[in-house]
Amino acid sequence: MGEARSPNAIKASLGAKSIIMVGLMGCGKSAVGRRLAAKLALPFVDADEEIEKAAGQSIEDIFAEHGEAYFRDGERKVIARLLRSSPQVLATGGGAFMCEETRQAIAESSVSVWLKADLPVLMRRVAKRDNRPLLKTGDHEAVMRELMDSRYPVYANADIVVESRDVPHDSIVVDILERLARALRVAPPPAV
Ligand code: S3P
Repeated sequence: MGEARSPNAIKASLGAKSIIMVGLMGCGKSAVGRRLAAKLALPFVDADEEIEKAAGQSIEDIFAEHGEAYFRDGERKVIARLLRSSPQVLATGGGAFMCEETRQAIAESSVSVWLKADLPVLMRRVAKRDNRPLLKTGDHEAVMRELMDSRYPVYANADIVVESRDVPHDSIVVDILERLARALRVAPPPAV
């Protein structure tokens, strides 16, 4: 690992850009994003929570009552709105980055961070909640495998890729800050 750059310098280099957390269900986008935002003194926003607020319904109920296509349409609109506001750390739902329009809007306004996790890590984490519509039926492991196959090549377009592993979230934050500093070419502190 390289030298740690100060969060202040990274924040200054971000300028008006936001940081967008991307990755599959269970990879830690919200938990890690929240800590990253605190380090950078930026607001943290969870796109799924904003979709629920806008709809006045839980994601589970949106899927059940209106279907996935309706959810995706709302997700695209809410994220487009969020991307127009001031710099923030924004955690997106696992399917958001699959929308080309959303990827384009993210590329224009933000730095995207893919938290890449392997299947055992994801399976352990998604087992802790039972309100994810895509994991309501069938073989969860098979669903997650299919999502990895279809989504990982697209997530790979993110600006930064960080391995999400079973280590404290703060360690992942340190990795992200390192990678951000490199991507934004933040100068290391002068040697003393
Ligand atoms: C989805 C992931 C969920 C939520 C919705 C659909 C997906 O968010 O947006 O259930 O398509 O992967 P998390 O990735 O935060 O669980």
